[in-house]
Amino acid sequence: MLSLLLSLSIAASCTATTLQRRDSTGYVNPADGGGSMLTNAPDTYPLGLGEPLNAIIVGTSDSEVLSLTGAGGLNNYFLSFGFGGECFGVHVGDAQTANLGDGQGTINQTAEMRWDYYNPSLGTCTETEQGGNHFRYWVQNGTSAATGAIFMAVSEELPLSQNHDIIPNGYNLGRDWLVGNATSRNITTSDYSTSGGTQFSGSTSYNGWTYQTTVTYTTGLLNATSVGINHNESVPVNGQPAIDGLVAVMEVKALQKGNGSSGSPK
Ligand SMILES: *[C@@H]1O[C@H](CO)[C@@H](O)[C@H](O)[C@H]1NC(C)=O
Ligand SMILES: *[C@@H]1O[C@H](CO)[C@@H](O)[C@H](O)[C@H]1NC(C)=O
Ligand SMILES: *[C@@H]1O[C@H](CO)[C@@H](O)[C@H](O)[C@H]1NC(C)=O
Ligand SMILES: *[C@@H]1O[C@H](CO)[C@@H](O)[C@H](O)[C@H]1NC(C)=O
Ligand SMILES: *[C@@H]1O[C@H](CO)[C@@H](O)[C@H](O)[C@H]1NC(C)=O
Ligand SMILES: *[C@@H]1O[C@H](CO)[C@@H](O)[C@H](O)[C@H]1NC(C)=O
Ligand SMILES: *[C@@H]1O[C@H](CO)[C@@H](O)[C@H](O)[C@H]1NC(C)=O
Repeated sequence: MLSLLLSLSIAASCTATTLQRRDSTGYVNPADGGGSMLTNAPDTYPLGLGEPLNAIIVGTSDSEVLSLTGAGGLNNYFLSFGFGGECFGVHVGDAQTANLGDGQGTINQTAEMRWDYYNPSLGTCTETEQGGNHFRYWVQNGTSAATGAIFMAVSEELPLSQNHDIIPNGYNLGRDWLVGNATSRNITTSDYSTSGGTQFSGSTSYNGWTYQTTVTYTTGLLNATSVGINHNESVPVNGQPAIDGLVAVMEVKALQKGNGSSGSPK
């Protein structure tokens, strides 16, 4: 815990900037290829509800970071901001599917990651039991849109005893907390514009690798709505829709490359 906190605070270069918006290369809107920015959750009531793909790691990120297997790849990057694989590799809950409009059609999630409560070896077990932040992700890598982008469905969930339902406002909060973890700053709604364009940038480190993450809150991919959103009876707060429609578009660069073996302790 101490080492993670230290690396977060030392590595943190916390800036909210108003840089120019990047060209949106590095991912393709799934809707353009017949897909959707909503996942398909199994056994919803009514049937057919989904969860928003409310964060994207763009394909213009460094290729080492986008690797599913490399030492400095996605698993090490996720660990750098406190997310690990599932407790002892045991999957709790049903897999979801998504269609990223890349020609692969509707496919299972690649993996599900959970916040590790600052304990990279056992913390995701705490998350599984007590709830907390988590995400499922898919890779946009089919032949008709091989961008390599990682589409993530982020939400803050309730404890296992409450069936891992989503907390009130849990999609927006989960996204903001994940972005906060990845840029080493606390983010609240007053820090960004609901019309998009706000950027946050910061760095995190793990196992000798240091990553610079630049996030742009982006509109136009999802609507601000409750319609079609899983748990839309209990998630909306203060008369607002279940999701605010903003997607955290993240570009990640490897500032420093480690020399060690795989970063995953599991
Ligand atoms: C998708 O996941 C389900 C379990 O949720 C599994 O039964 C099925 O075999 C998986 N499909 C593929 C293609 O891996
Ligand atoms: C994406 O597809 C390319 C070409 O098939 C492959 O080399 C690469 O490993 C894939 N990336 C991921 C993250 O699956
Ligand atoms: C990191 O994530 C945790 C759990 O979701 C959250 O409580 C915390 O506020 C986040 N930290 C930052 C700096 O956003
Ligand atoms: C975020 O806020 C919490 C609670 O106020 C504080 O303990 C923590 O140090 C803050 N983290 C950062 C990175 O500013
Ligand atoms: C947003 O809502 C409008 C109007 O209902 C609809 O035409 C559009 O397809 C929706 N966009 C998304 C991304 O769901
Ligand atoms: C939840 O989504 C379903 C399906 O689109 C819709 O029929 C229902 O009205 C929504 N419920 C709320 C509370 O928005
Ligand atoms: C790897 O880096 C560490 C410092 O992080 C250094 O002590 C070690 O000698 C390096 N090993 C190799 C093989 O370069």
